[in-house]
Amino acid sequence: MWKPPQRIRFHPAHGHVPTRAEAADSRLFSPVRLGPLALAQRTWVPAMVPWRADEDGFVTEDVLQWYERFARGRPGAIVVEATGIRDVASGPLLRIGHDRYVAGLRELADTVHRASGGHTRVLIQIIDFLSIRRRPEPDKFFRRFLRVTERHRQLLGAASWSEEAVREHLAALPAAALAEVLDAREREALQFGARERVTDMDLPHVRELPRVLPGLFAAAAARAREAGFDGVELHYAHAYTMASFLSATNCRDDGYGGSRENRVRLPLEVYAAARRAVGEDFALGCRFLADECIDGGSGVDDATWFGVEFARAGMDFLSTSRGGKFDDAKQPGVGSAAYPYTGRSGYECMPQYLSDAFGPFGRNVAATATIRAAIRAAGLGTPVVCTGGVHNFEMAEAMLARGDCDIVGTARQSLADPDWALKTVLGQGGQVRLCEYTNYCEGLDQKHKQVTCQLWDRLDLDEPGIRLANDGKRRLVAPPWSPGAA
Ligand SMILES: Cc1cc2nc3c(=O)[nH]c(=O)nc-3n(C[C@H](O)[C@H](O)[C@H](O)COP(=O)(O)O)c2cc1C
Ligand code: SF4
Repeated sequence: MWKPPQRIRFHPAHGHVPTRAEAADSRLFSPVRLGPLALAQRTWVPAMVPWRADEDGFVTEDVLQWYERFARGRPGAIVVEATGIRDVASGPLLRIGHDRYVAGLRELADTVHRASGGHTRVLIQIIDFLSIRRRPEPDKFFRRFLRVTERHRQLLGAASWSEEAVREHLAALPAAALAEVLDAREREALQFGARERVTDMDLPHVRELPRVLPGLFAAAAARAREAGFDGVELHYAHAYTMASFLSATNCRDDGYGGSRENRVRLPLEVYAAARRAVGEDFALGCRFLADECIDGGSGVDDATWFGVEFARAGMDFLSTSRGGKFDDAKQPGVGSAAYPYTGRSGYECMPQYLSDAFGPFGRNVAATATIRAAIRAAGLGTPVVCTGGVHNFEMAEAMLARGDCDIVGTARQSLADPDWALKTVLGQGGQVRLCEYTNYCEGLDQKHKQVTCQLWDRLDLDEPGIRLANDGKRRLVAPPWSPGAA
């Protein structure tokens, strides 16, 4: 992962640990409404992909146990990981693109409700993504993947050569000469792996996205409701299709790119279709970027404008993230795909303990506060969730007190200690296992390995009935904790 050149080391801290009475009186542990949905407290576990679905995208026992473990810590809400709206093969990522997924997802929603004693609300994040290929072996690229064009022939002076001869010739060219012959997208396909963009208007399925996506998102949202989820989060963040429509880099010329009004059009149409499918009495919101954190991308001004549009359209909540783009991702190794959390924008999304002077904690707060203030100035009360580097009560409470947000998301802190909020509310916050922001978990995610936390995955491996990761060396969920235990 990209690291800021300053490389200043930061340490998480417990901050002020409230007594039980203080916690009961706090903003963090007070209720809040997401439109029709009441949360008992303002703690929120944002979406995290743990790579535990089966190859066909179904809920597995490991998926159930992962969410059950978070639910035992009784947060206000858990958002289930990015779940694909299409019925296409996508490896061990959850899917909701067909009715056959509903039964497993129902078990998942029931598990969270049961394990939290009915305390935690469970939402599901639904996602669309375009195709990305692994970085190819150069030889394979020239012999199989590259489409030989007239442009290549002209530049090589090879008008009469057979296609095979052109391929052979290209495969033997040194890098400097190749840079002259391949265009930017061909070079990217060779060096990173081919990646589709929402601006690839020559591809019929990309051109048709505005016609196709509202129906796909709506059907997925309806399935989520049928499965017993309490709400749906439309994934409009990071490197995926909907975020790419919102991006300032989106220059589509069909009314869905260019100006802010055009870039927000499809996200609003998707929302409207999903709303029609689930009705007014079901929580529906989105996650979007407070800042893309890339050159030429959408910044806070754009995000503020989008946030007001989403709130005005009637979304029940808005959750912010930042960065996480392909645009500045590092070159992957041959045989691997680019990963959108390896560049500077990836750092902004999941900052780690070696940081610049600002540090990894609360990098998303100021931008989120700006968005929320604009929503309030427009006379709208839509609750806003802010996530990024939050790991203690004091910090979360201060964000709420200042009006930066209405709900506080903690992803890695909840992974490090799924009981952190429960311990805090019970006056035992001194026992919280603090996330160290090493990004070991994110490294596993990058390799598509089952995600665990280094602070607990080697503990008590002899615990009876415990499930281990595929490598046989790591437990898959945090050890149990019970109130009063040391
Ligand atoms: C292993 C892992 C998987 C993640 N998967 C998702 C995801 O599916 N959808 C999403 O919006 N964000 C995802 N994120 C980003 C988190 O939701 C969160 O925004 C980010 O980790 C920063 O918050 P934190 O500092 O509280 O961890 C993931 C993060 C991690 C560590
Ligand atoms: S592995 Fe654990 S301690 Fe390290 S960043 Fe992830 S959650 Fe935090």
